[in-house]
Amino acid sequence: MTSASIPVLDFGSQTAQLIVRRVRELGVYSELLPHDATEASVHALNPRGIILSGGPASVYELGAPGMAEWLRDVDLPVLGICYGMQLQSYALGGVVQGADWREYGPATIATLEDHPLFADLPREQSVWMSHGDRIERLPPGFRPLAQNASTPFAAVGNDDRCWYGVQFHPEVVHTIHGRDILRNFLYNICDCEGDWRPAHFVAQAVERVRERVGDERVLCALSGGVDSAVAALIVHRAIGDRLTCVFVDNGLLRLGEAEQVIDTFREHFHIPLVAVNAAEEFLSALEDVSDPERKRKIIGEKFIRIFEREACRLEDVAFLAQGTLYPDVIESKAPDRSKGITIKTHHNVGGLPADMQMTLVEPLRYMFKDEVRAAGLELGLPESWVWRHPFPGPGLAVRVIGAVTWERLEKLRRADAIFMEELRVADLYRATQQAFAVLLPVQSVGVMGDGRTYADTIALRAVSTEDYMTADWTRLPYDLLARISSRIVNEVPGVNRVVYDISSKPPATIEWE
Ligand code: XMP
Repeated sequence: MTSASIPVLDFGSQTAQLIVRRVRELGVYSELLPHDATEASVHALNPRGIILSGGPASVYELGAPGMAEWLRDVDLPVLGICYGMQLQSYALGGVVQGADWREYGPATIATLEDHPLFADLPREQSVWMSHGDRIERLPPGFRPLAQNASTPFAAVGNDDRCWYGVQFHPEVVHTIHGRDILRNFLYNICDCEGDWRPAHFVAQAVERVRERVGDERVLCALSGGVDSAVAALIVHRAIGDRLTCVFVDNGLLRLGEAEQVIDTFREHFHIPLVAVNAAEEFLSALEDVSDPERKRKIIGEKFIRIFEREACRLEDVAFLAQGTLYPDVIESKAPDRSKGITIKTHHNVGGLPADMQMTLVEPLRYMFKDEVRAAGLELGLPESWVWRHPFPGPGLAVRVIGAVTWERLEKLRRADAIFMEELRVADLYRATQQAFAVLLPVQSVGVMGDGRTYADTIALRAVSTEDYMTADWTRLPYDLLARISSRIVNEVPGVNRVVYDISSKPPATIEWE
């Protein structure tokens, strides 16, 4: 039996995904379902309650997402958030109207009584509002639970049905006690046990892969990143040696990375692994190419051709495993999770052949990144791998600025390895979300011993970011930077200068190319 859950029905809010994350963080399984999900699909998740997300529409508009017939009569607790709350009122006979103002940003609300939804919370609290419409009259059986001057129905409830609504967004961090309110809903109203852990994904995902793949064989492209590694380990646990991994060493990886992939998968996990050393092929294709986008295109195409070649050698492979994560699934609005999809180009593995007739199997399609990491640890993936910073598909080719040669790649690999080693020794590797070295096409004058040098420059980049869309440069300690700089100029021949990149994104990007 699926563990108990709180499904979230998606009415289009930007933060609907965040509600799912919060519920899972509180120890209860959750999935985001379309607002018009069928009763059967909700019940398949063994729900203890349902959350209705916010959304951009107005309930009284033509074409606004409505409430399914079955949901009106459902015998489960329901929490409506923002639009979800307005819809709840509207569908049950209340009145919702556009206000002539929008309430957007922080607001203070006051609760009107002691209520399990607000148990152990201060009477006045700061919440995040984002709405234009508001409830003017409550439906029968509902009463106000919290208010403020502009929103008389900031929270409402009907205890007989265990239906509640909040006009604000408890899922965002700006609602100071938002997490507590959600916890109260899960535990005080829905009687959840809170026994769900990200590690449960492993057993569930293994089972799903087994069902989906049957007796067929599966291919998985390993990139060296955490997602493809965890996807491969789950598939291996499900079907054993009917999984074959393909790992393409394109010569653009970091120091020791190819060896680690091969050792870990072949020697440690005993997973059949085809390792293709294609460094020369990639480097000759990149000869004299300096333009970053051309580099990307050449590398993407080369990867496809090599992967195709290797896949052809393995006969009777019906499935391709990919490490697609839940946010990608939600964002691409994948219609039906049970249907097979014929491969199209996909960024996860650097683009795959459009005409390859394999069916996708995506063991991570219900997981967020932090849950993939937890699953990786559960499956015995080394910590250093689980917590590795993201690495771009085109690899070091976009960190050797200008022309890519083996000699320049080696220089960069050594500098980068020193940077990473020192970050780990200082216990600051996880204090930054992405750190790396860049080899600049700039030579400058230096002095070493009694001699003049004219040598290369290494730039160090470390960023702090939540989503990699915006980023700030990480304030690494000066002493650490000094040590890294000194080691690089002493240990990497041909480098006499190290600079630290103090640009934020925007206007810069994280990578230099
Ligand atoms: P930028 O440089 O755009 O990077 O600020 C944001 C994040 O994306 C990664 N990145 C890539 N990943 N293929 C990838 O798989 C690429 O071509 C690519 N370019 C940038 C980058 O490392 C950072 O995490």
